[in-house]
Amino acid sequence: MSSKDSTSHDSMFGRMAVEQNLCTETEVKKCRQEQKSRMATDPATLSHVMVKYGIITKNQAKRLKGMIKESKAAAGQIPGYKVLGKLGSGAMAVVYKAKQLSLDRMVAIKVLPRRFSEKSNYISRFYKEGKLAAKLNHNNIVQAIDVGEAGGLYYFVMEYVEGKTLYDDLSKGKVFSEEEALDITIQLANALQHAHGLGMIHRDVKPKNVMITKNGVVKLADMGLARETSDVEAAESEKGKAFGTPFYIAPEQIRGELDIDGRADLYSLGATLFHMVTGRVPFQAKTPSEVMRKHLKEPITPPDHINTSLSTGISEVIEVMMAKKAKNRYNNMDELLIDLLAVRQGQPPVRAREKFSLDGLGELEEGMAIEFEDDSENVYGEEVITRYKVGLVMMTALSGILALVIVFMALGGKS
Ligand SMILES: Nc1ncnc2c1ncn2[C@@H]1O[C@H](COP(=O)(O)OP(=O)(O)OP(=O)(O)O)[C@@H](O)[C@H]1O
Ligand SMILES: [Mg+2]
Repeated sequence: MSSKDSTSHDSMFGRMAVEQNLCTETEVKKCRQEQKSRMATDPATLSHVMVKYGIITKNQAKRLKGMIKESKAAAGQIPGYKVLGKLGSGAMAVVYKAKQLSLDRMVAIKVLPRRFSEKSNYISRFYKEGKLAAKLNHNNIVQAIDVGEAGGLYYFVMEYVEGKTLYDDLSKGKVFSEEEALDITIQLANALQHAHGLGMIHRDVKPKNVMITKNGVVKLADMGLARETSDVEAAESEKGKAFGTPFYIAPEQIRGELDIDGRADLYSLGATLFHMVTGRVPFQAKTPSEVMRKHLKEPITPPDHINTSLSTGISEVIEVMMAKKAKNRYNNMDELLIDLLAVRQGQPPVRAREKFSLDGLGELEEGMAIEFEDDSENVYGEEVITRYKVGLVMMTALSGILALVIVFMALGGKS
């Protein structure tokens, strides 16, 4: 193995150890530092260092190495493609760069681990969603090319994107300017508008699934890649990760609702936009389940309170995108795009304001607006709630005065 190969093998090993919840990113970083410092005197693999320091056990290291070897072997057996190297790995797969021999073009191949091939209900969904994804054709969606099985493992071939992920920037602490964030979000909303129009919901919109090319073209990845389990199980399996799914997941997905629609992607896109313009995820907590509880219960901090250079408009748009109840969000990507384009031109977000006034004040007039059975489900601003409360107090006071007048009149009549 050349030193470059061993470095890439080590980073894959470290990443997979974190993704498999065997250790934290910090532990891997410390081990890599240790590995570097002893490079000249006592060179060792990352796996060796991690076992030596008791971060993982010998057996865990063996299993991880086996997984990497198996997926590489499977990728090498896919007919019509020549594997050139690894691109990365995530919670559920390893991604390779390969050449599609017939068309002489670069592709990315995602190879799923063995546990997937053992679930028959997953495999049927994998093929079904793969077929649907191949029907999508949009410049802002990573094109699905092929699905299949090789060496007992399932694979997903897609367009190769040369560039970085949005996560790469965010994990370095980058805070995007309003203009830049709007540009990225508009491209993603266009991608989702196209997919939703063909009946496909992404279900996992997050910075790791947003790729950005050198020319600034944004591409939504993993569209049409079936998820392994239910949304909540997938989210829970992300334990210990710094930027896992729970940071962007919609409340209805957490509740395990079956009739999820495009508004779940709208929420996740809102959470992604929130992260871009504030530099932090909407809800932070020590455990994934606490993060999920906050998605369900806690109102978001208005983004312009965190980053005061933001316009009120973009803040309102994010608040509507991230409303706890899907019915209080934009109805679809078309509506969202109207507001994103307006805010980009320095104008107020028309649809968001309509939402605030129709869903909020309109219902208030009917005396039934805010459903307080779960106060955190409250999507209206403080100002609206204050007005509602003042109205209630005034009505109570007026009824009291009226009652007193009636009593006095009655008493007056008697005497
Ligand atoms: N089409 C592609 N072209 C180029 N690189 C890609 C492509 N798809 C994925 N990658 C690279 O492979 C990495 C792993 O992708 P993968 O989808 O397996 O995991 P993820 O989205 O980062 O995380 P998670 O598994 O938590 O969803 C990505 O971070 C990206 O760097
Ligand atoms: Mg991905």
